[in-house]
Amino acid sequence: MIKIKKLNHIYKNRTENAVKNINLHIKKGENVVIIGSSGSGKSTLLKCINRLIESTSGSVLIDNQNISNCHQKKAEKIRANIGMIFQNFNILERETVFHNVLNGRLSYNNHWKTIFGKFSKEDHDIAKECISRVGLHEYMYEHTMNLSGGQKQRVAIARVLSQQPSVILADEPVSNLDPKLMKEIMDLLKNICVEKGITLVTSLHFLNFAKKYGSRIIGMRDGKIVFDDKPENLTEKDIVDIYGKTKDWYLYGKAGF
Ligand SMILES: Nc1ncnc2c1ncn2[C@@H]1O[C@H](COP(=O)(O)OP(=O)(O)OP(=O)(O)O)[C@@H](O)[C@H]1O
Ligand SMILES: [Mg+2]
Repeated sequence: MIKIKKLNHIYKNRTENAVKNINLHIKKGENVVIIGSSGSGKSTLLKCINRLIESTSGSVLIDNQNISNCHQKKAEKIRANIGMIFQNFNILERETVFHNVLNGRLSYNNHWKTIFGKFSKEDHDIAKECISRVGLHEYMYEHTMNLSGGQKQRVAIARVLSQQPSVILADEPVSNLDPKLMKEIMDLLKNICVEKGITLVTSLHFLNFAKKYGSRIIGMRDGKIVFDDKPENLTEKDIVDIYGKTKDWYLYGKAGF
């Protein structure tokens, strides 16, 4: 589903690559969790996958289509198949739950049509179904600014679902939530992806959490992949390879769980 070859990204005015020579194959329906300390390149890698940022070299293929080296129009088309979830929810606070989720249908419609609010009945039905799936049916016409953090992330998940994506990239989707909500949201995301056969790639900070939710763990350090295996094969040595010999690494495993 996702094939990454020799991917590099260097930000302007930086001397070090943020991601270095990444080679990675992710199969359809896989549930991959990326871990690594702050600055290790998790977000950069996720953003290169859907070309929110341009890779400096290398390629990313989504379902055998090269998103990293094609026209913007084509990239937009490929991106319609990839949902993205962020730590800070990225929803429109002044809009209702329904409108936020309906916006997920944008990529399926002509731009001019959507400017004039001409979504089809099918778009409306899909949006409503997605809102129900994340348990927000009774908040359908509520403004999202009145919702709690957990509910806002549910709106973001519903919006991504309404895109009917094959891949979901979630960049620290639960970092702004308390431990109980973290679990609720991760359960929801994982169950939805299993149910619909969606490939899920999530970056997470807490180790125990990553082991619980991922069926494959990718450990990053200084822009490189230093671990790629099943959670049960993650040893203490691997953890030191990922987080370094800091006395604090155990915090990643302890917090919240
Ligand atoms: N917009 C930017 N401009 C310049 N450098 C950046 C930019 N974004 C990230 N970086 C640098 O790229 C490297 C990787 O950052 P990235 O945000 O991918 O790490 P991360 O693993 O997601 O960290 P965190 O866990 O804190 O979210 C870091 O050295 C960071 O300083
Ligand atoms: Mg990040």
